[in-house]
Amino acid sequence: KNLAVFVSGGGSNFRSIFDATLNGSVHGDIAVLVTNKYDCGGAKYARDNGIPVILFPKNKDATEGLSTENLIAALRSYKVDFILLAGYLKLIPTKLVQAYPKSILNIHPSLLPAFGGKGYFGIKVHKAVIASGARYSGPTIHYVDEHYDTGRILAQRVVPVLANDTAEELAARVLHEEHRLYVEVVAALCEDRIIWREDGVPLIQSKE
Ligand code: GRF
Repeated sequence: KNLAVFVSGGGSNFRSIFDATLNGSVHGDIAVLVTNKYDCGGAKYARDNGIPVILFPKNKDATEGLSTENLIAALRSYKVDFILLAGYLKLIPTKLVQAYPKSILNIHPSLLPAFGGKGYFGIKVHKAVIASGARYSGPTIHYVDEHYDTGRILAQRVVPVLANDTAEELAARVLHEEHRLYVEVVAALCEDRIIWREDGVPLIQSKE
């Protein structure tokens, strides 16, 4: 399968998925990386490793950057099967959601539906978890719709919140599990091991 990864930041999830495609634990290839920040760590890493980088969306005053229509055309030209958001901080336009039905995933660093939605990104998520007194947190991987963090949940992993955790310590513990969970989910995706329950809930079939 051909994968497109969307990033806005350091891209550690992107790098762990890329490594998994190289070592064979994911039967897929990262065909293209899409970013709204041309100079972010993820985009630099992609360029250094020969992965084409596309700038999206077109900023108001920037001359570079693709329109949604041109991005969809580019993804088609790379024969992209699945889109993986990995720390991509912009909303996905409806046209793109409709062009890739049941094919766009996002990872979020809390147990959705808690601590999700607009405004809950980066370290703010972990600060809010600690402030709430929640004893558990962890990553959620979900399908993407037109809103922030509301699509169907596909996979989650529980991570403890320790009594004296700082937001940074919790973030690091969650991020460690994000890398493992995203690789497992993308492996399942590439092996067609996702099934949809009649009520619309997606499930991962384990390897027999
Ligand atoms: C991760 O915590 C992810 O859950 C969130 O943004 C962060 C991205 O980290 N959506 P990285 O760029 O993959 O290192």
